[in-house]
Amino acid sequence: MERAHADDLTEVAAGLTHSLDELSVSVTDLTKVFRRGNREVTALDGVNFTARPGEFVTVLGPSGCGKSTLLHILGGFESASTGSVEVFGKSVTGPGRERGMVFQSATLFPWWTIQRNVAWPLEVGGMGRKASRARADDLLELVGLTGFGDAYPGELSGGMQQRAGIARTLSLEPQVLLMDEPFGALDAQTRELMQEELNRIWQASGTTVVFITHDIYEAVFLGDRVLVMSGRPGRIVADISIDLPRPRGHDVKGSPEFSDYHARLWNLLRDEAIASEFLSRD
Ligand SMILES: Nc1ncnc2c1ncn2[C@@H]1O[C@H](COP(=O)(O)OP(=O)(O)OP(=O)(O)O)[C@@H](O)[C@H]1O
Ligand SMILES: [Mg+2]
Repeated sequence: MERAHADDLTEVAAGLTHSLDELSVSVTDLTKVFRRGNREVTALDGVNFTARPGEFVTVLGPSGCGKSTLLHILGGFESASTGSVEVFGKSVTGPGRERGMVFQSATLFPWWTIQRNVAWPLEVGGMGRKASRARADDLLELVGLTGFGDAYPGELSGGMQQRAGIARTLSLEPQVLLMDEPFGALDAQTRELMQEELNRIWQASGTTVVFITHDIYEAVFLGDRVLVMSGRPGRIVADISIDLPRPRGHDVKGSPEFSDYHARLWNLLRDEAIASEFLSRD
């Protein structure tokens, strides 16, 4: 009996160690080479990083350094040339519902109401019509679109459409949310409001986020960590923890600590952008 009890305890301890060490995203020595005919482009060369469950990781890098490629590989829409990509310990071999993608502009069906658009993945997944629509209403509330379920996408602003797109992606309760410059097409004010909204949604949902952006303010405001990529071929050249208190309101952007992070990241990014400009002229 005693022996069995000791074994149980060992198992519990092993379980705890496992959950503390658990990684939601693990990218190891990832490379990606695009080949067409004689042309070869090395987009990524030796990318390494991990994310813990519930972490918000933002990725900054000069244009063309392979950020979207990295995200597409994480989403399973593109294959790696070499290296490994794991999500919750499982190798990524194709798209999966535990990983949700949000692109630069919302891809809603224009002939369906917002509620139907958000409920659709649930219906496809086998949830009944009534239950999926009720769930869609909850998600619309989460993204601040209560009362717009009956509207059509064309009747909503760009920011509202993007929020509906995020609600649709969240409907499948992804463990990892992959976002490729989701606010890139929005005006400056809407963008700021959306960042605050995303902070709130993320804290409520507990999902891991990998968020790509060109905008240093956005990267610092949203991220627990900011990864900086080199010019193409992309590698991670810095991994900076953002030690600003949460929840973060817009006033944090005026703090001296925020300015310090911004200055540090701008220096890193400028060096990489200059280096990649120089290389691309060769
Ligand atoms: N399907 C493809 N076929 C061939 N080359 C590609 C393909 N997709 C991307 N590339 C190349 O890989 C490199 C990285 O592209 P990617 O779109 O990942 O960059 P990015 O960092 O997202 O750029 P941006 O900041 O401008 O969005 C570029 O040189 C691009 O031309
Ligand atoms: Mg891109």
